[in-house]
Amino acid sequence: MVKCARCPRPAVIKIRYSKMHLCDHHFSEYLVERVKRTMERYDMVGRGDEILIAASGGKDSASLVHMLADLSHEMEYSVIGLHIDLGIGDYSERCSAKAVKLFEEVNIPYIVLDLRRILGHGIPELSRKIRRKACSLCGIVKRYLMNLTANACRASKIATGHTMEDLAQYIIKAFLLQDQEQLSRLKPVTKGRNGLIGRIKPLCEITERETFTYAYVNHLPFTYEECPMFRERTLDAEIRSFIKRMQYERPSIVISLIRRQSEVLADRSAKNLIKCAYCGMPSSTSPCAFCKILIKLGREPEDVINRVYEIAEQMSR
Ligand code: AMP
Ligand code: FES
Ligand code: ZN
Ligand code: ZN
Repeated sequence: MVKCARCPRPAVIKIRYSKMHLCDHHFSEYLVERVKRTMERYDMVGRGDEILIAASGGKDSASLVHMLADLSHEMEYSVIGLHIDLGIGDYSERCSAKAVKLFEEVNIPYIVLDLRRILGHGIPELSRKIRRKACSLCGIVKRYLMNLTANACRASKIATGHTMEDLAQYIIKAFLLQDQEQLSRLKPVTKGRNGLIGRIKPLCEITERETFTYAYVNHLPFTYEECPMFRERTLDAEIRSFIKRMQYERPSIVISLIRRQSEVLADRSAKNLIKCAYCGMPSSTSPCAFCKILIKLGREPEDVINRVYEIAEQMSR
């Protein structure tokens, strides 16, 4: 049995960068401290911030909710949970049940948006109706609804559970494809402006192995399932496996990619935004990507906006 470096209890994980073995208790303490340091390093939160935490029902965002709720008193911010029920059959039901159980357990106010109530359809029907791949549609809808909900509940930041692997994968892919617009957005923090709420990724220096261990040893409600609509492209799979290999062979290189990228892009903001003529939100196109979907569905942005505001108002604080 390998012992914890800080107490006589059995170790549950070996931390690759420091080669340190830790037990469940000391690993949790260590990871929360690292997330706190990440938030400080990138100046993610300030006193009085109200953070909307987007939780999917998976391990990464479950750990995020638990850690941010834990740090909220010490760092003097408040939190609200958000889960979007994507209407992908039983899979979404199980994700929603886990997310709600988690919000209840950590005892934070929360909002659940059901896509079928907001747009009349879940992701599979939307994908068929609009003739667009489920994952890209889902990304547009989630991003828009997160921002709308943050406005509706007057949150000052949106936190997502993107991990080190997620961010590194997007950075490498955008670099290979020379997608400068995308590259400029791939930072641990993006500033808010004119109705676009700023986003933070407090787990950007934490690995999936660590979020899984944290969620597991703290008995957090989360699902192990992958989205049934997800089809990984070959390029994404190759980049992902390259990152995994790097994390194993040279643990510090992936973190330094994320840090360097964030410095290089520190003052290069995304291209100028215009106002969407339909919903009034800042966007690089008008209509914005979300309103293009609404137009195809024959729906008015006001209906969606009013519905989300109504749901946000009903939230118990
Ligand atoms: P993904 O886009 O699935 O890689 O998820 C990235 C992050 O987006 C997660 O860590 C969550 O913070 C957030 N997210 C994904 N799906 C949902 C959902 N259904 N409801 C709320 N937040 C979500
Ligand atoms: Fe969006 Fe699977 S989570 S399509
Ligand atoms: Zn210990
Ligand atoms: Zn719009």
